[in-house]
Amino acid sequence: MMNEYHAQAPQTVFDVEQVRKDFPILKESINGHPLVYLDNAATTHKPQVVIDTIAEFYQSQNANIHRGVHTLSQRGTDAYEAARAKVQNFINADSPSEVIFTRGTTDSINLAANSLARYLLSKGDEILISESEHHSNIVPWQMICEQYGSNLVVAPINDDGEIIIPEFENRLSPKTKIVSFGHISNALGTINPVQKLTSLAHEAQATVLIDGAQAVAHALVDVQNIDCDFYAFSGHKIFAPTGVGVLFGKRELLEAISPYQGGGDMIKEVRFDKTEYNDIPYKFEAGTPNIAGAIGLGTALDYVIDLNFAAAISYEDDLFNYAIARLCEIDSLRMIGTAIEKAAVLSFTIDNVHPQDIGLLLDSQGVAVRTGHHCAMPVMQRYGISGTVRASLSIYNTKAEIDSFIRAVIKAKDMLV
Ligand code: ALA
Repeated sequence: MMNEYHAQAPQTVFDVEQVRKDFPILKESINGHPLVYLDNAATTHKPQVVIDTIAEFYQSQNANIHRGVHTLSQRGTDAYEAARAKVQNFINADSPSEVIFTRGTTDSINLAANSLARYLLSKGDEILISESEHHSNIVPWQMICEQYGSNLVVAPINDDGEIIIPEFENRLSPKTKIVSFGHISNALGTINPVQKLTSLAHEAQATVLIDGAQAVAHALVDVQNIDCDFYAFSGHKIFAPTGVGVLFGKRELLEAISPYQGGGDMIKEVRFDKTEYNDIPYKFEAGTPNIAGAIGLGTALDYVIDLNFAAAISYEDDLFNYAIARLCEIDSLRMIGTAIEKAAVLSFTIDNVHPQDIGLLLDSQGVAVRTGHHCAMPVMQRYGISGTVRASLSIYNTKAEIDSFIRAVIKAKDMLV
């Protein structure tokens, strides 16, 4: 069932100048130029309200959670659990107990991979991923395959950077136990048809994990609608602090699988002969978590909901289309990733120029982009390149910034070619 936030109307007016005032870092000058921050796929900036939440936590709530009878511990626990409920609402999970706080997407995938492997993998079983994955959705599975004698199977992408659906389907078999793919590619920007891929995987009786690191700030994620078994994302990609992330898991699976890490808070009773684990989600949260980070994530989600996230995404989509059109006017520029369904990420190369040289010249003009393989080396291998220049957008970027970026790219190209 859709919740109130997922039903927000995208046509509401979105005032980007007002939003920019919420992000203090956007006033910075870099190398004598106003900052044009286009590295949002790496991390997003934090609005003042999130920065204040972190400070307030340490000023008036700081204590360990779930452990103390004293007032501060109770305050911290309440705030932490309120943040969990905000995440539940944001991704439309059925219950807060399906929301596990982790250190980030990588931690979430490692948790799911290890716990799932122990539960359902045998020698000769297969794990299916796609060719467009970030290293964090490749390497944990390779490690699992080594440990369990399973095989990693890869569904290829086409020249536009889209997963080839018949090839994906062909690779599903009774041996496929786990299927894992990104919602939006960090290197190409392709929006994958996650519902379709999930349903195909489920027809093959496989368990589905989605890496939502790049999607959570650019799409309204509804895990019930997608029907995935697991969904992983990081707080810092959506205006929250680093070091906190989420693993959503369907209740029955979370109850069935064993925890990945042991320690305090994940137990009901510890005896030397046997330990009884805590209920979900706590059985997956061993040790003191990033309490302030989780509370900051809750505030970041409140922030985007309050400003009408659907309208913000619609604004960002228009800006993205403008940026693509302007970039494509530049001679000898090759877009890497030309999927029909695409968001936020503009990856490109310029003939005979190293991406890093462009990145350095852009920085000298105040423009921040990422260059290189973007933790997606197999994607670069697919295109026969060592890396790209990647500009990635957020809801606080403007047309004027895109114009500055384009001018800076042209200037860099003229200096280097
Ligand atoms: N995964 C992040 C990126 O794509 C770090 O830049």
